[in-house]
Amino acid sequence: MTAVPPHPEKPLVRLMEERDGEETARLYQELAAASPETHDPAVAEDEGWFFNDRASVDDDWAGFVVDLGDGRLAAMAIGRDTGEHGVVEAMVTGAEWRGQGWGRRVLRALLGWLYDRGVDSVLVEAEAGSEPFYAALGFAPCPGFEPGQEMQLDLNALPCDRH
Ligand SMILES: CC(C)(COP(=O)(O)OP(=O)(O)OC[C@H]1O[C@@H](n2cnc3c(N)ncnc32)[C@H](O)[C@@H]1OP(=O)(O)O)[C@@H](O)C(=O)NCCC(=O)NCCS
Repeated sequence: MTAVPPHPEKPLVRLMEERDGEETARLYQELAAASPETHDPAVAEDEGWFFNDRASVDDDWAGFVVDLGDGRLAAMAIGRDTGEHGVVEAMVTGAEWRGQGWGRRVLRALLGWLYDRGVDSVLVEAEAGSEPFYAALGFAPCPGFEPGQEMQLDLNALPCDRH
């Protein structure tokens, strides 16, 4: 069978793998740079490698990426199933790829994975400035919400086109 060559105009949304470690670390550094008040840039690279490790080996974790087909990732969403609810642990679109729908696609992939495991609700600590993004995906502020605090999504209330 002939392998289909990567197509730079049609990035692929797929599960994160161990081989994505370097790009996961790079994107996580972009996330940390966007929220310096809650992230220490000095440890962001290590944290990125940690999240890649969890998403690659831990059955309760998953990551989804937008693969540009040339070794680069445009976006990633990493989360886990606590057994009681889902958590979005890391969500970032590379600066040059923002505003093109990639964040929505990759987060929806993660939400689909959680839904398929029977998870009912998903929490995220929404960094300041990211609330409109989560709100566009159906997340609602938890009571007493302030920037940087939790938003919640009822997965059973998702529209049918969530995939
Ligand atoms: C927040 C972030 C992940 C959004 O990713 P993105 O790929 O640009 O988002 P999308 O293009 O898929 O946007 C999806 C929806 O969210 C909305 N949206 C995204 N960013 C927005 C913003 N800053 N303000 C208002 N709306 C926004 C879009 O308008 C779109 O809604 P629409 O389809 O109804 O128009 C990205 O800006 C980012 O990585 N920021 C830095 C890191 C960060 O804050 N991560 C979140 C950590 S909790």
